[in-house]
Amino acid sequence: MTAHAYSINDQAIRSLANSVVAAPILTATKRASLIAEIKQLMQDKDAVLVAHYYTSSDMQMLAEESGGYVSDSLDMARFGNEHSASTIIVAGVKFMGETAKILNPEKTVLMPNPDAECSLDLSCPIDAFSDFCDQHPDRTVVVYANTSAQVKARADWVVTSSIAVNVIKHLHQRGEKIIWGPDRYLGDYIQKQTNADMLLWQGSCIVHDEFKAEGISRLRQKYPDAAVLVHPESPREVIQQADVVGSTTALINAVSKMDNKTFIVATDNGIFYKMRQMASDKHFIEAPTNGIGATCNSCAHCPWMAMNGLEALAQTIKTGCNEITVDENVRVKALRSVQRMINFSKS
Ligand code: 13P
Ligand code: SF4
Repeated sequence: MTAHAYSINDQAIRSLANSVVAAPILTATKRASLIAEIKQLMQDKDAVLVAHYYTSSDMQMLAEESGGYVSDSLDMARFGNEHSASTIIVAGVKFMGETAKILNPEKTVLMPNPDAECSLDLSCPIDAFSDFCDQHPDRTVVVYANTSAQVKARADWVVTSSIAVNVIKHLHQRGEKIIWGPDRYLGDYIQKQTNADMLLWQGSCIVHDEFKAEGISRLRQKYPDAAVLVHPESPREVIQQADVVGSTTALINAVSKMDNKTFIVATDNGIFYKMRQMASDKHFIEAPTNGIGATCNSCAHCPWMAMNGLEALAQTIKTGCNEITVDENVRVKALRSVQRMINFSKS
């Protein structure tokens, strides 16, 4: 395995993340009236809300109560594709809205806040990534869903964390060598699981990058019966501490299936809403993001996911603003690699 030397301005991405303004906290009265208004608006406008597990509990509850869906990034794409509503509202980050549009060109796709970025997407600009791919024409290009539509269009395959290992295993068995982007930790994890020949782009998730193996190991001593759940966007030493490594859905399923009463969870803390719903008798502890000499910026919550608020959502449905569009040439090319993932997931 070789790491690609492209230098990403991590500091610029972190500064951008620090400047993001989260959705405001609302009074109980305002919150209740917005929820009622949004439910009515969605009915009137034939809209369905699809939310990621990292959005606020309000957003997840609203999606569920209004006949929408809460899930990981792969299932969000599948649901939006299969639902009959003419408008899909995506509560999450930009690449999720773009994926919905790639799959549903005939539908209107809206987002409460289309400026909700992702550090992985930002770390992988199309021109630099395309140059990198051009230097290795013998390799199959596999990209994480957390990328722009242009990067998806340049790729042969798109994958999410829930099927990344299986797709790369399949390609490796066919004798293919891989370019992987943009998450270096997920790439490293997949490479270890599959032994595939992979060149890695050097992006990372600003949230998962901050979990600390040493802190988790100390927590383990304090809670010896706890299971450690880790999303594979985390650094290698953190993954090494895990009892379960997996996508957001896999981690939620583990909470229901495992007998443990306590879980130390290394992923965005938005996931606790669903974990508590699935196992209300169990105890969840946020994996530490601090430690000796460390400072946490995101503190286990994605600043861009936190932009998704009820006021912005109401405004979006009311006015049809914040529509997601993808250039048709780009969309058609990106669709090939996204559709491969969806077909693979059904096979
Ligand atoms: P999942 O695919 O596990 O939902 O993770 C996507 C992600 O990174 C959201 O931030
Ligand atoms: Fe991107 Fe990380 Fe936020 Fe997910 S949690 S959207 S990977 S920055």
